[in-house]
Amino acid sequence: MAAEIVLPPELRPSDGRFGSGPSKVRNEAVAALVAVAPDYLGTSHRRETVRSVVRRAREGLVALFALPDGYEVLLGNGGTTTFWDAAAFGLVDRRSQHLSFGEFSAKFAAVVAGAPHLDAPDVIESAPGTHPEPRADAAVDAYALTHNETSTGVSMEIARPEGTEGIVLVDATSGAGGLRVDPGQFDAYYFAPQKCFAGEGGLWLACCSPLALERIERIAASGRWLPPSLSLPIALENSRLDQTYNTPALATLFLLAHQVDWMLEHGGLEWAASRCDRSAEILYGWAEASSFATPFVAKPGERSHVSATIDFDDGVDAAAVAAALRANGIVDTEPYRKLGRNQLRIALYPAIEPDDVATLTGAVDYVVDALASC
Ligand SMILES: Cc1ncc(COP(=O)(O)O)c(C=O)c1O
Repeated sequence: MAAEIVLPPELRPSDGRFGSGPSKVRNEAVAALVAVAPDYLGTSHRRETVRSVVRRAREGLVALFALPDGYEVLLGNGGTTTFWDAAAFGLVDRRSQHLSFGEFSAKFAAVVAGAPHLDAPDVIESAPGTHPEPRADAAVDAYALTHNETSTGVSMEIARPEGTEGIVLVDATSGAGGLRVDPGQFDAYYFAPQKCFAGEGGLWLACCSPLALERIERIAASGRWLPPSLSLPIALENSRLDQTYNTPALATLFLLAHQVDWMLEHGGLEWAASRCDRSAEILYGWAEASSFATPFVAKPGERSHVSATIDFDDGVDAAAVAAALRANGIVDTEPYRKLGRNQLRIALYPAIEPDDVATLTGAVDYVVDALASC
């Protein structure tokens, strides 16, 4: 049935990619990559052609996040999942505290729980669709927060727990570049480029404060065994040379640098976040006015402006809606698989046009009507 529904032209967004990651890559960035490809792709990552792209990305991120003096941008291969392992080796001293409120925040907590050289972490959980608050604890040397829990569409404000000396590690995989953040509130703000940075996966980046850099160096000096591919001191040394320890994907680096430049040219993080705000207002406003859709996250202040989750009434089959959208070229609106809800998840990253979000809401209404009359 879903495959038979044909959207009229006015209900087709200019771009049908609404996935939360991999997410929409801007066509202009791909065209720019094609233009430089003969001199760039397939060249050494230890030479200036590629290193200048890494430098552009690193310097651009310093500007985008207004990182104070002494902060540095580190990068390495493997995406955020690899960074969790690197952090368990190189940033957590003995005991970490984790806010666990979805699939991804739970995964980092599990990494640390399994690390034989660390104490059992303090894990504070809350129900899907909410987030817990950290609590200051003198025994904790690292607080693990998540700016945006992509699996549930909950975002939280990043603030250091008061009265603590522990470093603050923030998983900003889907929040970085789309949500506002004060660099004074974190020590490592880490992410991967396949979300707001409209690039490809397989790379991690971490904006590190002097406290985090000092922790990295102190743990390395303590003699703890660090596997080289997960070694943050090695990543730091290579990042300072605008390189990665081992061979990176050059297209990923290019798309990242291009997106950072694009954001900076338009006004930086404030511009990018405002664009996400606009998309969020359109989507949540539509859901609140709808007779069948409701924002999954109850508290408006916790509703993500980069990856939104919208529940449907029992009478509307969200999977059938997503399938009909997919058949019309609007892809990846399915919810996070393990959440198991009757909902759509829609990315609102800076690359996504707010007007396309408005068109998408019209398309959903059309499909729901059409399914009802099937
Ligand atoms: C919040 C969050 N953390 C971590 C990850 C894992 O990132 P990666 O696939 O780069 O390892 C994701 C991926 O979607 C994510 O959304």
